[in-house]
Amino acid sequence: MTSALAILQRARVMPVVTINRIEEAKPLADALAQGGIDVMEVTLRTDAGLAAIEELAKAGDPIRTLGAGTVLCEGQARAAVEAGAEFLVSPGMVAEVQAYCRRHGVPYLPGIATVTEAIGATALGYDAVKVFPAGSVGGPGFLEALASVLPGLAVCPTGGINAGNLAEYARLANVVCVGGSWLVPQLAIRQGNFRTIEDLASQALNIVRESQQRTPP
Ligand code: 3PG
Repeated sequence: MTSALAILQRARVMPVVTINRIEEAKPLADALAQGGIDVMEVTLRTDAGLAAIEELAKAGDPIRTLGAGTVLCEGQARAAVEAGAEFLVSPGMVAEVQAYCRRHGVPYLPGIATVTEAIGATALGYDAVKVFPAGSVGGPGFLEALASVLPGLAVCPTGGINAGNLAEYARLANVVCVGGSWLVPQLAIRQGNFRTIEDLASQALNIVRESQQRTPP
């Protein structure tokens, strides 16, 4: 089974995508792929989220690894996996989602926001977590401090990250991937301006590549 860590290491940049209309899903995925990103976390925050996952999973191409985000209960976990999600993400550690993923062999990326939560995740066997909301809980300084006490824990910060501060996160030793919604602005989606999304994706990948002159943990 592919682990959440392996998915993050391969992705390096994780677009956190909220879909309002199903028709937006495919052109959005195409634009991200044109920019070099073939991984997506589609959030379950909107009514269209689940149907978008189903549509993208059926299409197969261009998204190679499709995840569901903001998964807050077992019912959502099951529905997302049945729709075709290959990994699940939560903003915190959700015990029933964790148990569902363990039972069904689905990679799970739980969120943490404190050192105690990070220790709790490692005690449960997780070697990778999402740090959310990264910008509000201390930003790169917090992640650096986390690495000093839990050097074996890989992190994917999200929340408040953008092209301007991306490099400060990506250069850190424990950061294997950086995620967020800045890559997929709602205005650009609404206006059908997918070229902007393609450009944001390739810009983000370039920044991360330049910052990560090292082997991931
Ligand atoms: C998430 O679910 O990871 C966040 O909504 C991403 O935060 P951002 O919108 O600030 O990038």
